[in-house]
Amino acid sequence: MTYKLLFVCLGNICRSPAAENIMNHLSKENGLSGSIVCDSAGTSSYHIGSPPDRRMSAAAAQKLGIQLQGRARQFQKSDLQEFDLILAMDKDNYADILALDTSSKYHHKVKLMCDFCSRHTLKEVPDPYYGGAEGFNQVIELLVDACEGLLNHITAQQV
Ligand code: 4NP
Repeated sequence: MTYKLLFVCLGNICRSPAAENIMNHLSKENGLSGSIVCDSAGTSSYHIGSPPDRRMSAAAAQKLGIQLQGRARQFQKSDLQEFDLILAMDKDNYADILALDTSSKYHHKVKLMCDFCSRHTLKEVPDPYYGGAEGFNQVIELLVDACEGLLNHITAQQV
């Protein structure tokens, strides 16, 4: 049994690829890489095919020693059926995802990433794109907190 997670932001070059790679890293560390499958997508088409933003990659390498893998793709309606849990980085992403759930059949699968944080009180993962390096470091810290919570949530359920 595999549990399929999809992380979603606007561009799929900063927050969601970082979340995907951090979750893969934590899953591996906890011996769960065979049972948790991660992917990421953007609600926009702006960066389709692009690798993760180099500033996000630098922060992940510096803070966690991991290399960000993947290429940007756009979120699509079929993702609602495909994945077990869909994690939106902010409320705009959340609304854009649910706008594709025209039958409201998959509403229960879509959550805000920060709902899984236990050490941070922010409700959204801030968009770091137009800011400085500190914003990217903050994203990494928030995502580690949320991914740890997510791992606990999944293991408590079934995996
Ligand atoms: P992301 O960051 O949604 O975390 O990948 C952004 C990337 C690109 C843009 C905005 C946010 N953009 O406007 O191009």
